[in-house]
Amino acid sequence: MLAKDSLKNKVVLVTGGGSGLGLAMADRFAELGAGVAICGRNQEKLGKAVDKLSSHGNKVESYQCDVRDYEDVGSMISKICDDFGKLDCLVNNAAGNFFCTSEDLSPNGFKTVVDIVLHGSFNCTQHFGKKCIEAGHSGSVISIVTTYIETGSAFVLPSACAKAGVQALTTSLAYEWAPYGIRLNSIAPGPFPTKGAWTRLVPDGDFEEKFKKRHPMGRFGEPEELAELASFLLSDSASYINGECVTIDGGQQLEGGQFNFVARMMPRNKLKQIFQAMKSKSSS
Ligand code: HXC
Ligand code: NAP
Repeated sequence: MLAKDSLKNKVVLVTGGGSGLGLAMADRFAELGAGVAICGRNQEKLGKAVDKLSSHGNKVESYQCDVRDYEDVGSMISKICDDFGKLDCLVNNAAGNFFCTSEDLSPNGFKTVVDIVLHGSFNCTQHFGKKCIEAGHSGSVISIVTTYIETGSAFVLPSACAKAGVQALTTSLAYEWAPYGIRLNSIAPGPFPTKGAWTRLVPDGDFEEKFKKRHPMGRFGEPEELAELASFLLSDSASYINGECVTIDGGQQLEGGQFNFVARMMPRNKLKQIFQAMKSKSSS
């Protein structure tokens, strides 16, 4: 457990902070004393998250922003600096992903995920870095990647390509911006059951149970476990950690990076039907 007030006087932006792991991280940052800004596309979701986060008594604001839009991201970061007086930390958490056999992927499907994950992370990181450099202010960035950044993973090709790019962005800038006092690290989570991930990546039926049974610890991650790690990496206790990717998956990666081995073993035609049903469900 981090000491109470470990993030006091820091202002943190969490992209996609209105739900899932982003919300869990934002909640822990607020509890540890940070001022918290969250963004996403859905204003209603953000409003509910602000109500929850405000219970810790620190300043919390939400910003409706699509991270794919470079100009909008720039305006949002300027607005956060005006509203909070500064911005110390960025968490690139917003993402898109879905299961699809790659031969059936449309060019726009590939582009959409790469735009959110890779371009979105570039847009936020570059605007954040520019502000820090202009102000002569140190900074810390965490990007949420995945355990398949090095191996790739079947049926999530756009995400695998984009997250590998985000990891390259992290290590490139960790070295380039270290002289400015800007640290960049990443976190590679294993499976954490969130509504966003599970509706898109875990088919109905016994898939989840098989997935869990195969896990070396026999369980999935708790969002609070990830939030604690992210808080540590942003805190001054991690001031010499730069360019690192920390995996938090209960040891699952030791079996190999592919997370959807259950799907690979199914007949491909059946799998295509399942993926089509999941697409209809997640877009309805
Ligand atoms: C095939 C699909 C698809 C699917 C969308 N598309 N869903 N193709 N299978 N299931 C295609 C569409 O047909 C379209 O291409 C293109 O993608 C864009 O779709 P839109 O719905 O118009 O896009 P948009 O409204 O921008 O939504 C983006 C999204 C959506 C990524 C498709 O799912 C979303 O908003 N996701 C955000 C949250 C999220 O994904 N969370 C999960 C993160 S979990 P065409 O050619 O028809 O125009 C995660 C975990 C990783 O990353 C590791 C786990 C262990
Ligand atoms: P989630 O709840 O679906 O989170 C994704 C968030 O990103 C949502 O709040 C969404 O909000 C936001 N978002 C999506 N597109 C956006 C855009 N264009 N602009 C701004 N915000 C956008 O799923 P999650 O499981 O918490 O995922 C969080 C992160 O963890 C992601 O980076 C994911 O890849 C990573 N991860 C998750 C797991 C897991 O098992 N859950 C495993 C490995 C990695 P709006 O829809 O309102 O925009």
